[in-house]
Amino acid sequence: MASSHLAFEPLHPTFGAECTGVDFSRAVPAETVEEVRAGLAKYGVLVFRHAQLDDARHVAFAGQFGELDDSTPYIKAGRKHRLAPYTELFDVSNLDDDGNVVKTDSLRFQLGLGNGLFHVDSAFNPRRAGYSILRAHELPPKDTGGATAFADTRTAYDDLDEATKNEIKDYVVNHSLWHSRRLAAPDCEFLKGMKPEDHFMARHALVQRHEPSGRMNLYIAHHAHHIDGQPVEQSQDIIEKLLSHATQDKYTFAVDWENNGDIIIWDNTCVMHKACRGSFEGKYVRDMRRATVHDGSSTAWGLNERTSFRAGMP
Ligand code: OGA
Ligand code: MN
Repeated sequence: MASSHLAFEPLHPTFGAECTGVDFSRAVPAETVEEVRAGLAKYGVLVFRHAQLDDARHVAFAGQFGELDDSTPYIKAGRKHRLAPYTELFDVSNLDDDGNVVKTDSLRFQLGLGNGLFHVDSAFNPRRAGYSILRAHELPPKDTGGATAFADTRTAYDDLDEATKNEIKDYVVNHSLWHSRRLAAPDCEFLKGMKPEDHFMARHALVQRHEPSGRMNLYIAHHAHHIDGQPVEQSQDIIEKLLSHATQDKYTFAVDWENNGDIIIWDNTCVMHKACRGSFEGKYVRDMRRATVHDGSSTAWGLNERTSFRAGMP
């Protein structure tokens, strides 16, 4: 492999870096993709300013990291895909089908609030997500919020005391999209009627080795509903403790999106992330687009049956 031409500027003492040296104006060579992959194994989160990818090149670049998830099964019946024909892109904007900013009292807005809690993408599916590649297509005005924050769950695991590590080492967590959505929008009438127990949950080991780095990781998220063999209430006590531990200031940082065309890649199998709220909500466009690669590690499917099911809209 050619000697490295990428530079990584750390964003936090234990994880995250801004990466320079990738030329996004042409197809990214395979050896550069490997260097980015190595950077992700170490840092978990990489920020690329001014990448300026369009939809087609975003999908092509993401596809170099593995098998892309398809957004179609997540889209509510009857809704159109605003980013057609790019079904590999997830529309994580605050826009409705006609391109208008969604009102904060709409169901669409309420359903999106779950992204504001620390999570990993697709923990609630049979096959979990590996990398997510999020792109700012159109940002709200500066100082109106909308940063994306990250949490270092490898270091958070390392710092647990030995008794806790021992207690949780064989826990299997049941993840539910409906659970995190309900937590984020407790007053939403629609969500009050959606009982997580009535829907599929995905089972993944809580403590896992992150294969690309060899480090241990706490695979947790606000999707975590209960632990195998434990009542929900007791499970929630444990889950909440672990989530508050892993999301302390010392394990987190937020990235301010600076320019349309910035992208962030994160590894869902070693960091959590969340969208930060802001005064742009209900007022200004925040058009974010994401491509997500299925996890390629040996624990990608957790304890789940290998089906094509996705936890989308009923
Ligand atoms: C996502 C997500 C956060 C953001 O796309 O999976 O959680 O800041 N996005 O939009
Ligand atoms: Mn997400």
